[in-house]
Amino acid sequence: MNEKPTILVTRKLPDAVEARLTRDYDPRFNPGDQTYTSDELIERAEGCVAIIPCHMDALTADVIARLPDGVKAVCNFSVGYNHVDVDAARARGLIVTNTPDVLSDATAEIAMLCMLGAARRVTENIRLVRKSEWRDWSPTFMLGAQISGKRLGIIGMGRVGQVTARRARGFDMTIHYHNRRPLAADLEEGAIYHETLESLLPHCDYLSIHCPATAESEGLLNAERIALLPDGAVVVNTARGPIIDDEALIDALRSGKLFAAGLDVFNNEPDIHPAYRELENVFTLPHIGSATRETRDAMGFRALDNLDAIVAGREPGDRVA
Ligand code: 8YV
Repeated sequence: MNEKPTILVTRKLPDAVEARLTRDYDPRFNPGDQTYTSDELIERAEGCVAIIPCHMDALTADVIARLPDGVKAVCNFSVGYNHVDVDAARARGLIVTNTPDVLSDATAEIAMLCMLGAARRVTENIRLVRKSEWRDWSPTFMLGAQISGKRLGIIGMGRVGQVTARRARGFDMTIHYHNRRPLAADLEEGAIYHETLESLLPHCDYLSIHCPATAESEGLLNAERIALLPDGAVVVNTARGPIIDDEALIDALRSGKLFAAGLDVFNNEPDIHPAYRELENVFTLPHIGSATRETRDAMGFRALDNLDAIVAGREPGDRVA
């Protein structure tokens, strides 16, 4: 008789993580490694005590209500958990965990890449080289914006925001930020706190978004707020797509109000707004913030640490519901 608890694993995880899962549990893997529909996910969860999902798995109130009774926990392979209706999870007594800390460095690296990619017109530059359209050179050829010495505004000074600020200081950037509360001085490291977004935005040559996606942050960067940014500002998003109002951002990129945007996350991934595929002043990545070998291993092990605690009847380290 198999006494190991059965765990639904919705996507292919790094080999070392799957090896630990196989050693300690009876994992139900997804051989096709494609996002399950809600019905498939519910069906596959039959007989499982926990689910390890990714951010593409929408655990809405309806899905949570229809999960088999034996499912007691959702141990996310992600720090963001906006794909889980935590109120519905709480109401059902479902434990929900995430994977904070371990992806802050990798995601901050991608924030810097997005900032540089947007500022230095990398989309256009790559096209010129790859399509053999690079013919000549002149002192005014492909001029971009500099980041060194400029002001970086950060929305959401949590773990990833703080690491991004540290990396940006390496480029002599001055950091401004908006957060629900100011950080303690030792964490602030000289960054300038703004109690409101309206106060922050006029100070941002660059704006990087690092807050969670919630009902309150949906559409937070809208047309009115973009208008408060300095002309020629650059917007970076490595958090979640819904925080930005796509139409407002696209209008500002088209009109020249904004110089460029660097985006790793989008509304409705992977079916993103078509303008993002066409605009030359957008530097895009396919949601790879945490996609390094080291970080994906660490995320998997963190999810398993949480699962181990839950199965042993202990409090998991990263409980969010
Ligand atoms: C993850 C992320 O790779 O952890 C998060 O919140 O956005 C990504 O970096 C992804 O969510 C995995 O499910």
